[in-house]
Amino acid sequence: MAATLNQRTRHILSEEKSVPSRDITRLTVPQSARRAAIRQTIHYANAMHALGIDIGGTGIKAAPVDVATGRLLAERQKVPTPRPAVPDAVADLVKQLTTSFSWSGPVGITFPGVVTDGEIRTAANLDPAWIGLDAGALFGQATRNPVRVLNDADAAGVAEMTFGAGVGENGTVLMLTFGTGIGSALFTRGMLVPNTEFGHIEIHGTDAEKRASERAKELHDLSWGKWAGRVDEYLQHMEALLSPHLIIVGGGISKEADKWVPRLTGIRARIVPAVLLNNAGIVGAAMATASESVPDTSGATGTGH
Ligand code: BGC
Repeated sequence: MAATLNQRTRHILSEEKSVPSRDITRLTVPQSARRAAIRQTIHYANAMHALGIDIGGTGIKAAPVDVATGRLLAERQKVPTPRPAVPDAVADLVKQLTTSFSWSGPVGITFPGVVTDGEIRTAANLDPAWIGLDAGALFGQATRNPVRVLNDADAAGVAEMTFGAGVGENGTVLMLTFGTGIGSALFTRGMLVPNTEFGHIEIHGTDAEKRASERAKELHDLSWGKWAGRVDEYLQHMEALLSPHLIIVGGGISKEADKWVPRLTGIRARIVPAVLLNNAGIVGAAMATASESVPDTSGATGTGH
């Protein structure tokens, strides 16, 4: 049984709500918490364990994961994404989260943009300073551990296919995450085609995610009915292009799937809500360090994705 952070540490580390998201100087894991965690002797000796870190537009989440079962080995920690979300500030939090678990071993990290050969190619919802950056090197230095970096929706999809709503599905599966943007992951026979970026197809002359993401719902104060109509229209476009057997809808808003999934009536494919909800990114990130079915977008193994 892996040790967990003590109660006080957990409490301090999970107090993100009290940290104003604009106050960059306060966006650190408190030193007292770090010391408390470091004082503990935490051994993650099992090779099937990896630290998963999920970088999102609003928060950065982390937990050690048993990649064979998808189980979190310690309570998930979450800190707000710094504003501006520039590479050094994000890398600093990644470093602190790694230290807070006294982690030594493989680290999988998600990024909300295209990642090929460890390089960040797009950053639609984070600072443009990321574009062209060698994220594998940056996070390798920050964590002082071997790292794999991959797209956030790809990670969530891998976790759902292995432990969630996609288990046993061999046909074409499209996983979509609705959050700050729309993320996509495409599978056939369980194999991922990385970096599909289907949130950026154009509908009515604009990026689909600008109309149908969870953020668009909030920004334009759309009712469930109105927003579900936009999602339905978006899924019809995706269905016309890919004819998936199954569509898995994820992201934070899938917690309220009963309010909108039954309204998606224009689609032939089966539509199911994600099962792993907020932990899918963490679990998929950890799996990317160990699974053969996850193409290496870090360039670490030279497979060229
Ligand atoms: C990005 C994707 C990402 C998605 C969800 C989009 O804006 O381009 O790479 O997966 O948001 O975070």
